[in-house]
Amino acid sequence: MGISFNEKGEQRMKYELTKEYLTGIEMIDEEHGRLFEIANECYDLVMDDTAIDRFDNIVALLEELRTYAATHFAHEEEYMERIQYERRFSERYQHLRFIQKLSEINLDEIDENQQEYLRGILDFLTRWLYGHIKVMDCRIPKEEVAAQSEKPEKKTKKPDKATKGKQETKVKKSKKK
Ligand SMILES: [Fe+2]
Repeated sequence: MGISFNEKGEQRMKYELTKEYLTGIEMIDEEHGRLFEIANECYDLVMDDTAIDRFDNIVALLEELRTYAATHFAHEEEYMERIQYERRFSERYQHLRFIQKLSEINLDEIDENQQEYLRGILDFLTRWLYGHIKVMDCRIPKEEVAAQSEKPEKKTKKPDKATKGKQETKVKKSKKK
């Protein structure tokens, strides 16, 4: 179960989502996998000089990538909100910028120098995805399990580093008359 990697099929993919890019959160990992699938489809098409209606199909795939990225980001943000992840705002900011970048793709430029321009776009998009997943998404805590399976099982309390050593400062306010 989970994500199928490139080793599975006979077709080698251009962009691979290797294990080091797994967050350990199934829903997020699967969606990342799909993003890479779309990027690969796009890459194949860009490189295939013989493809009919290539331009139209590439545009459609880029649109699919944008739509799917937006959906995925929404899911990821929902998840982070649910667990009250403290870095969720900077994540959200990065997501917004990515979508913005995708929206800025100039279709006229695609028309002029299709292959070079599209390869540049794909390169940028995938590099962004790799970086973002590794640096940001892999730090998202895996608290989904805890939130979903609320079975009253024995709770082992681990002294976790993540729990901040809150300093209790007692502020005594004595009201002056
Ligand atoms: Fe993210």
